[in-house]
This record gives sequence, structure tokens and C-alpha cells, in this order.
Amino acid sequence: MKIVVSIGGSVLAKELKPDKFRNYASAFREIAKDHTLFIVTGGGKAAREYIGVARELGASEAVSDDIGIQVTRLNARLMIAAIGDDAFHEPPETYRDALKAAITGKIVVMGGVVPGQTTDAVSAILAEYTGADLLINATATDGVYTSDPKKDLDAKKFDSMTAKQLIEIVTKTDMAAGANSPVDILASKIIERSSIRTIVLNGEKPGNIVDAVKGKHNGTVIEG
Ligand code: UTP
Repeated sequence: MKIVVSIGGSVLAKELKPDKFRNYASAFREIAKDHTLFIVTGGGKAAREYIGVARELGASEAVSDDIGIQVTRLNARLMIAAIGDDAFHEPPETYRDALKAAITGKIVVMGGVVPGQTTDAVSAILAEYTGADLLINATATDGVYTSDPKKDLDAKKFDSMTAKQLIEIVTKTDMAAGANSPVDILASKIIERSSIRTIVLNGEKPGNIVDAVKGKHNGTVIEG
């Protein structure tokens, strides 16, 4: 299979710890034995801090996004260092370059691409671009809920859902101040338009990602 894994910065780099990167790297090497693998790394706390300071200093939203992108690429570089020889040596900066890098047969790791989106969207577009069979969104929650489970005790998790349902949920969640849906709206629309089979799961344990590739997980499946 060709697989794109989006690993949220909040999962990977809440704080920078070499062991975190090592553990994900060994999971990714295991998956790559049998599959073509692309990884998209998020920015996490560091990205939010840099963006916050940039805004305070009067940088525009687009410039602040660009700074966020640089942080996502730093995390990609750390992941490449952790994977070692099995990874392509640098994060591609475009989808086309990611496709070219994959010709080497190595694991391709990248961060953000352009302002105005997050790495959720990068991973969905990369899945489109490469014709991936599966997109895994490894995030801090264990799936997609009917509403934000941190705020609504009655929130229920979907075992599976359609991309249309995902868009409805994400639109509703995004309207609530401070709420953060596990998949953003742009990524949801890409998943819908290209019917990308997607699994949203708790990515805090790297083994969860390996198991999901083998078909075993407790997350939410979005059937394009
Ligand atoms: P993330 O994808 O980590 O953002 O990119 P996020 O969803 O806010 O973070 P998590 O998942 O909760 O940790 C970090 C920032 O980099 C910029 C955006 O500003 C984003 O918030 N970015 C990232 C872009 O502008 N374009 C991209 O393609 C990727």
C-alpha cells in the first residue's frame, strides 16, 4: 500500500524529546518494510509559540504561517535524523518534490507547504497527489466525535463515518470558540472530493499507527 501518515505536532513534539522521535522512527521503519510511506509532521507547541510572538511583533497572518511552516520542517528534519538511512535526506517543500523523492524508495518526511492551511491539509493533498491508498491522521484524540469531547460529556465517537458527515461535524466544531477538530475543514473537503480512505486515531503511541496499517485500531474510519 501507499500510505500517508500525518503526525500532529501536539502528539510528536509537545516537548522535544529524542526518545519520542526514536520511537516513531522505529514504527515508521517497520511500516515501510511492506509499504510506501510518506510522513507529514506538525509544528506543535513550538510552532504556536513562534506564531504568537510573530503576531505580537506585527507580522501578518501569512508571514506568521510561514514561520509555522519552518517549525513543521524542523520537526520533519528531526524525524529524518531519527529514521536515518531509510528516510529521504531532506523534507520536500512541494508535493511534486515529495513524489520525486519517493522514487528513491525511501520514507519521505515533510512539513508544511504554503500559508493558509495546516499539515492536516498537507497530508490530505499529499495523499491525493501520490494516489495513496490510506491516510492516517495520528492525533491527540482517539477519533472523530459528534462534538468536542473535552466540552461535551455526551459526545459520541464514530467508529466509521462518511466524508460528508466529517465535513458537517468539522464545520460545527470550528464554529465553537477555542474548539479544535481532529481534522480541519480543508483536509475534510480534500478527503471528500477524492474519496481518500482515512483513519483518525490516537497517535500518542507509535504502535497504534503500526496496528492501524494492519487493520487493527480504535479510531474512526472515514470512508471517502
Ligand atoms: P500544524 O499543522 O502543526 O498546525 O502547523 P496546527 O493544526 O495548528 O497544530 P497542531 O496539530 O494542533 O499541533 C503549524 C502552523 O504552521 C502553519 C500554520 O500557521 C499552522 O498553524 N502552516 C502549516 C501553514 O501555514 N501551511 C502549511 O502547509 C502547514
